[in-house]
Amino acid sequence: MNSPLRKIIFPAAGMGTRFLPATKATPKEMLTIVDKPLIQYGVEEALDAGMDEIVIVTGRGKRAIEDHFDISSELEANLHAAGKDALYQTVSRVARMADVAYIRQKQPLGLGHAVLCAAPWVGDACFGVSLADELILSEGKSAMQQLCEVHEQTGASVIGLAHVPDNEVSRYGIVDAQDENGLLRLHGMIEKPAINQAPSNLAMIGRYIFTPRLFALLKETKPGTGNEIQLTDAMRQLASEEPVYGVVIEGQRFDAGNPCGFLLANVILGLQHPQHGETLRAALTEMKLIPPVR
Ligand code: UTP
Repeated sequence: MNSPLRKIIFPAAGMGTRFLPATKATPKEMLTIVDKPLIQYGVEEALDAGMDEIVIVTGRGKRAIEDHFDISSELEANLHAAGKDALYQTVSRVARMADVAYIRQKQPLGLGHAVLCAAPWVGDACFGVSLADELILSEGKSAMQQLCEVHEQTGASVIGLAHVPDNEVSRYGIVDAQDENGLLRLHGMIEKPAINQAPSNLAMIGRYIFTPRLFALLKETKPGTGNEIQLTDAMRQLASEEPVYGVVIEGQRFDAGNPCGFLLANVILGLQHPQHGETLRAALTEMKLIPPVR
């Protein structure tokens, strides 16, 4: 049994160009799915898995993330005085749900570089990495919890995976995986391959647990695709040195880092929302965009 994981990194210093102009002055991670910003879904998932030491790697123009997890005394006092108890509880819970640390990536030199920026904060421990723009909702165990279970069993690095259709393979990091005593051992991974070069249809979907060896490898990783320091390049080296396992995550996944996945997440979660779901369903039915419920 390995010691439970506490530390998790949220890289959030990317430029979010696919959402411009929305992300010109607003961090992509603060875009909302119904009434909650993407980064809050990610932090809640991490806390659910017992990962309560959180660092968010931010960059220029990302101050709203820090404000979101901070105490807003004025807002809380106003809501309290106005008797808006439910809203008061919501706002004060967000500010107290976790102690979040922030590290600045001075230039967006790639996901691998963003993770490396948090190395001094992590130290010599295993750690999680979560990309908040991949929204994963699970009825049972959360996505991170599913990874933690394999890590507790093996002590090794574990990567979250999903099957993707052929026409989406070139958008993801794709793994070369083989069954090993009931676990999925990863022998390699390639970033955004053409379908005829892809070793499988299993894509990495933004949930990772790493041994601290990853940091040493990231330090040696040269800029790759897009002139960025790619996490995938360091992971490939890691998988050649020590076991790295994959977990096909059970849950409903939205690639909210691209506008279409983001819109879909808003519609689906909007329809499920306890307060707004019924009204939204009625409006979409009225517009003949969805069939009436029988
Ligand atoms: P993405 O490529 O999905 O995000 O990076 P992006 O760069 O913000 O978005 P586009 O492609 O321009 O639309 C995956 C994750 O890595 C982080 C991003 O914030 C996102 O969470 N990232 C990326 C960094 O933190 N730093 C970087 O230099 C690059």
